[in-house]
Amino acid sequence: MSNSHQGARQRGATGVFVRRSAAAALVLAMSAGHVSAQTPLRPGYNRDVIYQVFVDRFFDGSTTNNYGSDPLFDATGTDLQKYLGGDFQGLTAKMSYLKNMGITAIWVTSPLDNRNLLALAGSKAPYHGYEMRDTLKPDEHFTNASQSWQPFDDFVSAAHFNGIKVIVDFAPNHSNVRGSGDDGALHENGVLRANYSTNPGGFFQTGPNMGGSQWDSPYETQYYTIYDLADLNQQNATVDALLKGAVANLQNRGVDGFRIDATKHVNWGWQYTLANSIYTNRTSFVFGEWVADDRNNPLYGDLLKFSNKSGIAELNFPMFTTINRVFGQGAAFTDLDTVVGQQQADFTYQNDLVNFVDNHDRKRFLTVDTSADDRKHLHAALAFVLTARGVPCVYYGTEQYLEGGDDPDNRRKMPAFSETTTAFNLIKNLSTLRKNNEALAYGTTQQRWINANTYVFERKFYDSVVVVAINKGNTSQVVSGLVTSLPVGTYTDYLGGTISGQSLVSSTAVSGGFQAASLTLPANSVSVWQRDPATTVAQLGNVSPTHAQPGVKVVISGQGFGTTTGSVRFGTTLATVHSWKDQEIVATVPSVGQGTAALTVRRSGSSVNSNAFSFNVYQAKLVPVTFTVNNAAPTNPGDQIYLTGNTIELGNWSSTRTGAVGSMLTTPSSYPNWWLTVGVPAGKTLSSSSSGCGLMVR
Ligand code: NOJ
Ligand code: CA
Repeated sequence: MSNSHQGARQRGATGVFVRRSAAAALVLAMSAGHVSAQTPLRPGYNRDVIYQVFVDRFFDGSTTNNYGSDPLFDATGTDLQKYLGGDFQGLTAKMSYLKNMGITAIWVTSPLDNRNLLALAGSKAPYHGYEMRDTLKPDEHFTNASQSWQPFDDFVSAAHFNGIKVIVDFAPNHSNVRGSGDDGALHENGVLRANYSTNPGGFFQTGPNMGGSQWDSPYETQYYTIYDLADLNQQNATVDALLKGAVANLQNRGVDGFRIDATKHVNWGWQYTLANSIYTNRTSFVFGEWVADDRNNPLYGDLLKFSNKSGIAELNFPMFTTINRVFGQGAAFTDLDTVVGQQQADFTYQNDLVNFVDNHDRKRFLTVDTSADDRKHLHAALAFVLTARGVPCVYYGTEQYLEGGDDPDNRRKMPAFSETTTAFNLIKNLSTLRKNNEALAYGTTQQRWINANTYVFERKFYDSVVVVAINKGNTSQVVSGLVTSLPVGTYTDYLGGTISGQSLVSSTAVSGGFQAASLTLPANSVSVWQRDPATTVAQLGNVSPTHAQPGVKVVISGQGFGTTTGSVRFGTTLATVHSWKDQEIVATVPSVGQGTAALTVRRSGSSVNSNAFSFNVYQAKLVPVTFTVNNAAPTNPGDQIYLTGNTIELGNWSSTRTGAVGSMLTTPSSYPNWWLTVGVPAGKTLSSSSSGCGLMVR
């Protein structure tokens, strides 16, 4: 490892080039960006159950936006590649269905205006919302012909009225298909900003479509094109402002969170600034889609770095893949337990990972599982996701046993709205448990008994405990020698026997917990036992966001904070408190030095700190800057170059691969020049020493 200080060129988001010498300190004077009006804060999300909806496929609440003459619309309601009539009016109409299921957050497909014209052989409509054509207007198919926001705003109000948060799918990677149709055209409230063929100011990246291993290669995955979708250049200042303006508008309309599409394919460093921009506007929940099936994925390390540092949690694809194999294809529970263990070791913010059984890009569970017990396996898988570490997400229709193969078959119309299916009631029951027992929201996971078809695991947060016993086999299983943290007593099945659950009799204190009497788990059964004593000790479960600059509001969640306002400290510095409930506090990051600060809570009148959360304090709001290093030779094949510097944003002089920023990118044609976009604090001096930023070659 060496730290070499070289003349480097930095390109700001404004497109200004700054040449600096090694000794010169660099001051970045960027604008503070969007400041949006504050709407009422929504609470933390670790107790939530998310429901993922394709707006077009859920419910048709207004036929006035079913345009009969529109070639993108199919009036027969059968062509899954066309608009089929669902809209925000329909979601509003079905709000009580969602509330009754215990849903507390809805992830909807993008409301933004999408491609209007037929493209690429004319077959497919952008009913999925992944072909944005306007950053500020809603799509007429989901709202009305005048593209007013009213139907969307009404939907948000109805959701909030029912205690349900709104999460919007946002795709900053691309606009719409290039070269045909709307030619990637992107508008801002009806005003054309660019189309692909004219590409003003390098608005788009013009790389070829990705193929093969390029999907998992750091350069191509960020800079090439997916499916001919005109690839936005987030290093362009206009694009940066348009995308951040789009999310700010949605936040001003009350949107509580974002699912970021294709995070693996969008400039990674820029996304740190997107997340920070969202959190600066308002507290939010931001999670992304980074597809990696397991630890063997070439970008698994990059996924971890991104998930642990960017402020964007991730959809838990490694867990999804394992759930699918274990519950749907007969693999052993030991596989699942291995991944649970890996995740506890790998992810810093495991409570924020989003777990799912079904989604819109994979075959539905019931179609993968071809056994006679497929619904029973689905119940077991759902029970796991709803009790595992992370935030559970249910894909629309799973509760109605919807089948579906590959895209678009996995996006069929919602078949029914029955509130009596076993799956519906399972979701409802476990949603109540998530709300009440903090072990599910914040607890660690411990395996307590396992074989190929039986898994007993315990979630524990202080004295709050949930134990789940699943037998996915088609014969009963005797479980003896089970030790849990549930004290001596009898625990009835929280699910009331709806999935053949049994009672647990905890009989004797032993080392590591309490031994239970031997019990028999019926075939295809799920038992849930729990304990949640009241506490008068402040127990901190999670903080959101995990990274922010002074002045940004954070939600601190847990239990035992008391009902009278106490105090919050970052290190020893007191924070301003905005609201205080027994399980949730909103406070502002105070003016403390950059770096990590131990965030603690004290109950009113107490001098005892809670457990600490290691909070990452930025210097200022992040702006994207592309660092370019010219002539970094000699390097050897396989070497990678990292940036390191004097602030948390630059890794605080870390010289490890995970601590420093990067690695930087190069290509055969740009070598020996390297570059990297980094989120750096606006208006701050990047180095207070004369040594400037460092480069680390590893
Ligand atoms: C990933 C989404 O989940 C998928 O459905 C979509 O087609 C691509 N990103 C492109 O936006
Ligand atoms: Ca309609």
